[in-house]
Amino acid sequence: MSQEFAPPTSEWYYPSEEVKKRAIIGDYEALYKQAQGDPEAFWAEQAENLHWFERWTQVLDRSNAPFYKWFVGGKTNIAYNALDRHVKTWRRNKLALIWEGENGDKASYSYWRLWREVNKFANVLKSLGVKKGDRVTVYMGRIPELMIAMLACAKVGAVHSVVYGGFSENALADRIEDAQSRVLITTDGAWLRGNIIKLKDIVDEAVRRQPIVESVIVVKRTGHDVSMEQGRDYWYHDLMSLPIANPVCETTVMDAEDPLFILYTSGTTGKPKGILHTHGGYQVFISTTLQWVFDLQDDDRFWCAADPGWITGHSYIVYAPLILGATEILYEGAPNYPFPDRWWRIVAEYGVTVMYTAPTAIRSLMRFGDAWPNRHDLSTLRLLGSVGEPINPEAWRWFYRVIGKERCPIMDTWWQTETAGFMIAPMPSVPLKPGSGTRPFPGIEVDVVDEKGESCAPGVDGNLVIKTPWPGMLRTVYRDPDRYVRQYFSTYDDKGWYLTGDSARKDEDGYYWIIGRNDDVIKVSGYRLGTAEVESGLVSHPAVAEAAAIGVPDDVRGNVIYAYCMLRAGVEPSEALVDKLKEHIRHEIGPIAVPTKIEFVASLPKTRSGKIMRRVLKARVTGAPEGDLSTLEE
Ligand code: PRX
Repeated sequence: MSQEFAPPTSEWYYPSEEVKKRAIIGDYEALYKQAQGDPEAFWAEQAENLHWFERWTQVLDRSNAPFYKWFVGGKTNIAYNALDRHVKTWRRNKLALIWEGENGDKASYSYWRLWREVNKFANVLKSLGVKKGDRVTVYMGRIPELMIAMLACAKVGAVHSVVYGGFSENALADRIEDAQSRVLITTDGAWLRGNIIKLKDIVDEAVRRQPIVESVIVVKRTGHDVSMEQGRDYWYHDLMSLPIANPVCETTVMDAEDPLFILYTSGTTGKPKGILHTHGGYQVFISTTLQWVFDLQDDDRFWCAADPGWITGHSYIVYAPLILGATEILYEGAPNYPFPDRWWRIVAEYGVTVMYTAPTAIRSLMRFGDAWPNRHDLSTLRLLGSVGEPINPEAWRWFYRVIGKERCPIMDTWWQTETAGFMIAPMPSVPLKPGSGTRPFPGIEVDVVDEKGESCAPGVDGNLVIKTPWPGMLRTVYRDPDRYVRQYFSTYDDKGWYLTGDSARKDEDGYYWIIGRNDDVIKVSGYRLGTAEVESGLVSHPAVAEAAAIGVPDDVRGNVIYAYCMLRAGVEPSEALVDKLKEHIRHEIGPIAVPTKIEFVASLPKTRSGKIMRRVLKARVTGAPEGDLSTLEE
């Protein structure tokens, strides 16, 4: 487990009359009970709000558990629900997306314009031979074309695999290989803190290693010189100006269970897993959760400040807000560039009403003091949100007081790449306790249990499990169904529960408190990394014989990585080698995985069976008890 604090469980924040009056869901308790009574009827009712080319014949098929199927026989397409259906109504003129570049560039898209751009690009993809079921890799910064690319893939029935722009050529190549993508969409570069991140150069290197990629489409964003390989690389704007880029494109009819995307995330082994989500259940789950937790209505301006390259962005930037017909904001750059008030400036300029971000961002902006936000009119805000890691009560209170002016409830949403959407989260009408995601979403059965599967008493730590299937659940690990069963369903296989990998506790009021990961996953600035990924990255350097990585609590980033390396015989430890290894990790995985500290050791604590005891290393850094050492070999 990574971050630990003892939160006060008796500090309550109650919603104001105004918040309660507006809330779509006024009585959480009643709704939860109703959903619990008949979850299938409950989810079917929510599914009725969306468009289906053909209605499902069965809500949930459990016959091949844990490979569940939802809305069996239903025909749909998430892109139809996000765009096509809105352009048939008054919403065609509504703003769908307001974009701001870090360098001050701006763009806005009505639903009509966004729909046409997506249609055009969908036709471009078809002309390059992309068909239903083909995997397309997307590697871009936070620009509208990233959303257009993802929506166009969905429209033609292709499966997108978005790789976060902060990953290195190696990580990108691995993901291209696993997904077997023949088409890749990227940009020349991305702006970050006034610098250009040269994404196309990284793509060139990744494609050199994985020549399976036949076509690379490049959006011009930064305009610096890039090499374009004839017959393989195409400028997006060139393709979009050809007659093939027709603004009308029929949306492909998809089976509810047809794959929509693969998103790679870290687990306990070195190789990232491709989490697979499908069209039908996913769209129902993410749109219902967003609507009720953030109370989204037509007068809102919603800003989820995550990156579309992570699940938060997939669900709550690219798809759910559009399904709900909302107006949303996308910002390209860093929160503190050129000054620490960049985000607050954006809130004021566009009249943001709901802002959703991560504790690490809140903590880092908090450090700059209250004067920066106080300089701006934040009065349009009515709701705030947090995701990615436990929010410490101090950051919660700052966010509440300085940003929300004690008017805006904070929706602390607990969920995972695998769950697709909010699992434990309040709704605006629910009383809050800082640091707790409160209670499970209607239709979701969670519990904290011990090793044997017995419910833990209030205040006792245990494994957080989900006891029944839900429409947004991952369907499998791409090309590795055994891993899906082993990782998520083998711990409590007799009961069929899903293991989250988090440890948590409940309090006397039934509120849930997430403590952190209890597997070998580290959350660094809210990003999820596996210790094994970092370790195999280090060992791939010729100087390193063995390595161990651990997460160490950090005030701003939640956790940082410390690494311990045993060098190969004859290699001398030095400061220069530390720098070389850091550079190596930046190359192998990406900047987010670079250890803050690398220490050279003569041996690593291991069990007799040879497993590295990371907990012992961690105890030495944090001063926590070392625990049972009976299996320690030396
Ligand atoms: O440990 C939990 C933490 O993030 C993990 C999931 O990471 P990822 O798949 O990258 O998805 C992040 C965005 C949903 C969880 O297992 N986590 C996420 N949200 C919270 C959280 N921990 C505490 N409180 C949260 N609100």
